[in-house]
Amino acid sequence: MMKFAGYSLGVSFAPIGSNVFAKSFRFPIVGSIYRGNLRSSRLFSASCWREQSNGKNGVVAKQYLPPWFSVAPMMDWTDNHYRTLARLISKHAWLYTEMIAAETIVHQKDNLDRFLAYSPDQHPIVLQIGGYIENLAKATELANAYCYDEINLNCGCPSPRVAGHGCFGVSLMLDPKFVAEAMSAIAANTNVPVSVKCRIGVDDHDSYDQLCDFIYNVSSFSPTKHFIIHSRKALLNGISPAENRNIPPLKYEYFYGLLRDFPDLTFTINGGISGIDEVNAAREAGAHGVMLGRAAYNNPWHILGHVDTAIYGAPRSGLTRRQVLKKYQVYGDSVLGKYGHKPTVRDIVKPLLNLFHSAPGNGLWKRKADAAFRSCTTIESFFEETLVAIPDLVLDSSAVEPPPGRGDLFANIDSLLPPPYRTREEEIVLCA
Ligand SMILES: Cc1cc2nc3c(=O)[nH]c(=O)nc-3n(C[C@H](O)[C@H](O)[C@H](O)COP(=O)(O)O)c2cc1C
Repeated sequence: MMKFAGYSLGVSFAPIGSNVFAKSFRFPIVGSIYRGNLRSSRLFSASCWREQSNGKNGVVAKQYLPPWFSVAPMMDWTDNHYRTLARLISKHAWLYTEMIAAETIVHQKDNLDRFLAYSPDQHPIVLQIGGYIENLAKATELANAYCYDEINLNCGCPSPRVAGHGCFGVSLMLDPKFVAEAMSAIAANTNVPVSVKCRIGVDDHDSYDQLCDFIYNVSSFSPTKHFIIHSRKALLNGISPAENRNIPPLKYEYFYGLLRDFPDLTFTINGGISGIDEVNAAREAGAHGVMLGRAAYNNPWHILGHVDTAIYGAPRSGLTRRQVLKKYQVYGDSVLGKYGHKPTVRDIVKPLLNLFHSAPGNGLWKRKADAAFRSCTTIESFFEETLVAIPDLVLDSSAVEPPPGRGDLFANIDSLLPPPYRTREEEIVLCA
């Protein structure tokens, strides 16, 4: 396989120490990543620490555990508020921002905190962007001050608002040359790793070999070594983005084929995984990382509440939901109305609405919340008004029951794998 000239990614395979860490360790500890210039990467971290001492956000922890588990980028969902909640429940999950258009970052450069600021607690955190190539480079440079841990390019969104513009979303999968150029431009403007999130295909461009051609070209002609694969294709005409997340069938065998055929790359599986057992099953089958979207949003307590213990082998935070809400209230009231009338009580409370998923009192709490949105002007008063609906037992228990999972989801995956990919160098050297 041809290699991208002038780029090297040294990945530490050293075990971290505990048993669980010794198991199929593939991701580097962030602090140990060497990307071309170790000295400048150290300087980058140092400048982030300085930012913190100036009172801005942007602290970079020295070391994080690898992204064995991540919460997907989800527009209007994985905003600052949701990520604040998620971090109170799981210390180690990697959190992605919703996609932020590079154009927004470039045009709002005097107003960047509104789009890019986050609490240092949210590390490890990945910024997802999309946009025109010149703006991607500029946006990445502007985002450096915020010390994200990785920059990710959205090559998977089927929304006509996004994909229809040619330089965004899943239609990029038809143009690996552009993606390689875009990723090179992004990487040239940051010291943190870069990654691509994509589907397994688009419309009838959906064979395993076509997916491999995309991965081969992007990884060979740019510094991209980490791919997040939403394991269903996208249909560009006729169905909505929501339908595009359900109708095209999942083909996990393509994902596991990539693991076999690109052993030097790192792959995170995404799509339709909804429980901790499934996350562990995906990792046992070889996935380097597992990304959950809707399940982590729709049931944060039961999903994120298990990540630290069941996936990372680390202690649980031990917080009860009452304690989580108390901390969240301090956050919520401190940001309420920070940008004129935004964020509103409703904006801040939105991610909490799933916190009592399937718990006693959940229905009543939601009805009370509906009424409280009209009358409450602070998060504190919102909680006073609504939390009476939830029994103390629910609020004060830190125990988390995992939702039943499909631990055998990947049991037969080896028998389904597509035939091995053979690089057709002479045909697919699109980028040479
Ligand atoms: C409301 C919503 C918004 C989304 N926005 C984005 C986005 O901004 N960028 C992106 O790459 N994917 C986006 N996605 C797709 C998810 O990241 C994920 O790939 C998809 O939901 C499949 O994972 P899941 O089955 O675990 O939910 C979005 C999904 C949802 C439900």
